[in-house]
Amino acid sequence: MKTTGGTDDQKRRAGERAAELVSDGDVVGLGTGSTAAHAIRALGQAVDDGLDLRGVPTSFDSRALAREAGIPLRSLDEVDGVDLAIDGADQVDEDLQAIKGGGAAHAREKVVDAAADRFVVVADPSKVTEALSRPVPVEVLPDAHAAVERDLTDLGGEPTLRRAERKDGPVVTDNGNLLFDCDFGVVDDPASLATGLSGLPGVVEHGLFVGLVDTVYVGTDDDVEVRR
Ligand code: 5RP
Repeated sequence: MKTTGGTDDQKRRAGERAAELVSDGDVVGLGTGSTAAHAIRALGQAVDDGLDLRGVPTSFDSRALAREAGIPLRSLDEVDGVDLAIDGADQVDEDLQAIKGGGAAHAREKVVDAAADRFVVVADPSKVTEALSRPVPVEVLPDAHAAVERDLTDLGGEPTLRRAERKDGPVVTDNGNLLFDCDFGVVDDPASLATGLSGLPGVVEHGLFVGLVDTVYVGTDDDVEVRR
């Protein structure tokens, strides 16, 4: 699924401002997507300038970008904790509840972002909404996809298997799983939907991030708006 909307300048402003939150010695969760990529590049520059940090990537892509940027990397089980995670979102509401997974990386993103003492979402204004309404990405074990599809429909959703844009076949996540984008319309109660999705056998992880986001940096045309 494409996650466009804002301008690259707006994304850059948000990503670069969030990167300024990193202090010497920090372990930093490195998010996935075009907005988080700006934070990763800024952190690479900061490392070049002498900042001591270790990055925990949330995806194959963020690992590759961080490596290229010269950021020393660790896996989550090699660190005692994560001081700060900086990650993008597909939608974020006024209560800082978010939908993630447009880049098919939400399972690992959730593990890293939830482990962080502070989780900062970086976004452009097109991501901010009154109520969550985008289809919710749901990563599923391949063998369970038909059963999960039925369960998602029973939960009131309309699941669509995500297909690869340039290949004839489904998207396969970094974890070797498949992905549904499940349309629930406007999500009135994200916490209870999150509980319902987590309870389905075969669901590896869903893209509803409830009670995890501490701050949102929204890059505008000339500034960064901070929401807490
Ligand atoms: C990946 C994500 C991304 O953070 C989300 O899709 C936002 O991406 P972008 O900053 O490119 O709009 O959740 O799984």
